[in-house]
Amino acid sequence: MYGLVHTAIRDMVLSKHGPVVWDKIKTEAGVADDAFLAMQSYDDSVVLSLVAAAAKVLEISAAECLDAFGQFWVLDTAVKHYGNMLDSCGHEIWGFLQNLDSMHDRMSGTFHGYDAPSFYLEENSDGTHLLHYRSSRQGLTPFVIGLLKGLAIHFNTKLGISVVAEELSDAGQHTTFSLETEDLSCRG
Ligand code: HEM
Repeated sequence: MYGLVHTAIRDMVLSKHGPVVWDKIKTEAGVADDAFLAMQSYDDSVVLSLVAAAAKVLEISAAECLDAFGQFWVLDTAVKHYGNMLDSCGHEIWGFLQNLDSMHDRMSGTFHGYDAPSFYLEENSDGTHLLHYRSSRQGLTPFVIGLLKGLAIHFNTKLGISVVAEELSDAGQHTTFSLETEDLSCRG
C-alpha cells in the first residue's frame, strides 16, 4: 500500500502512545525508516508487519488495532490532509458511501497503480442498508468497521454495523455489512 498509510499508522501511535512506544513497534516490525514516503507504493507486507507489531506491543488484537486505525484514518488523517476530498464525496453517510468508489477512482491520477477497494450500497425495502465491500486483499474487514465508525462520528450519525457475510476467494474478499441508523431502528 501507499506509504501514506504507513505514516498514518505512525501518526496514530505517536499521538496516542508517544515516541518510545512507536520506536518499539517499528523495531518489532523490522520496518526501515525509508518505508514512510507518503507517495511511494510498498508491498502490503509492510503494513501487515506494522499492524502485527502494534498489536503485540500494545497487547491488543490485530482486529482491534485495525479498527482503531480505521477510525483514526477518517477522523484525523482524512480530515487534516484530504478534507476537500472528504467534503466532495458527500455531506451525509449514505450519499458518501455511494460516492466512495468515484472518490477512490479520482485519486488514481495521483496514486498510480494503486489498488483501491470497491463499495456498493444497497437499500432494503425496510430502509436498512447493505454495504458490499470488495478488495483484492484479505483480512481488512476490521479496518472497514473502524472506517465506518469514524464516518458515523464525522457525520454525527448513530450507526449500527454488523457483518452479515464474509467470503474469501483467490480474488480477495467480499464482506457484506448490514448498516442501520438509530432513526431507522427506532421505527420498530
Ligand atoms: C479522503 C480520504 C481517503 C483517501 C485519500 C484514501 C486513499 C486511499 C489509498 C491511497 C489507499 C491505499 C491503496 C493502495 O495503496 O493500494 C486506500 C485504501 C483503502 N481505502 Fe481509502 N481513502 C480515503 C477514504 C476512505 C474511506 C472513507 C474509506 C471507507 C469507508 C476507505 C476505504 C479504504 C479501504 C478499505 C482501503 C484498504 C485497501 C483494500 O481494502 O484493499 N477509504 N485509500
